[in-house]
Amino acid sequence: MTTTKPSSILPDLAEKPVFVNRMFARIAPTYDLMNRLMTFGQDQSWRRELLRLAATPPHGRLLDVGSGTGDIAYTELRRNPSVQAVGSDFTYEMMAAGVGKEAGLFLPFVQADTFALPFADNTFDAVVSGFMVRNVVDRVAAFREMARITKPGGRVACLETTPPTNALLTPLFRLYFFRIVPLIGGLVAGDRQAYAYLPHSTVDFPEPLELMRIMEQAGLHHVFFVEKMFGTVAIHVGTKL
Ligand SMILES: C[S@@+](CC[C@H](N)C(=O)[O-])C[C@H]1O[C@@H](n2cnc3c(N)ncnc32)[C@H](O)[C@@H]1O
Repeated sequence: MTTTKPSSILPDLAEKPVFVNRMFARIAPTYDLMNRLMTFGQDQSWRRELLRLAATPPHGRLLDVGSGTGDIAYTELRRNPSVQAVGSDFTYEMMAAGVGKEAGLFLPFVQADTFALPFADNTFDAVVSGFMVRNVVDRVAAFREMARITKPGGRVACLETTPPTNALLTPLFRLYFFRIVPLIGGLVAGDRQAYAYLPHSTVDFPEPLELMRIMEQAGLHHVFFVEKMFGTVAIHVGTKL
């Protein structure tokens, strides 16, 4: 699909980390609510599917990279209470919004850049991310770092929106993502610009087959993906051998 990349929406690569960090700091207070609204409540079922495919064993260790407010890690703690889950993110405000948000569940957060995760090699049984990889500049390096801290035999799994490829549905998705989502973002989060970034970062994101290759380049094996929501959402899974 062809699309324009207005420089006012997508930052230059060198500025992207600071742009992303500031943007998420601004929208942190309404982030969870906006997710539920934008996805018609579907986002939590995608997170459950991501976790099912990541297959952290009972009493295993799970890292949620770019955890934001921790929705993925909290979901794992609810469905599999013996798992030791940790969230990591470079935006303090997102993690602060997630601390203690689920009664009775304790999720430790670590402030860290995805490219330099403060964990030893082979620490986690599974490393997962949701809607994070689109925000990083060097995707191969990000997956390589996730693979480094994954135990041999463990999985690295990634949930993302993907550029729509269905010719019939594409105009509808473009209308929704480019017009309606920024409008809701303006009303609910008071930040239309942040929610204008979302569609642009989606169309700028690799299609599922390409993302598969990126994960393989990062050293992951047996990579596969499943698509959701008419092919606009994909979950990729790779194994560290
Ligand atoms: C769209 S949010 C996703 C939050 C959460 N994973 C979810 O499922 O809702 C993306 C998160 O990735 C974080 N992030 C982006 N780039 C990062 C990086 N290089 N290192 C650490 N966190 C990063 C942002 O701060 C933000 O909290």
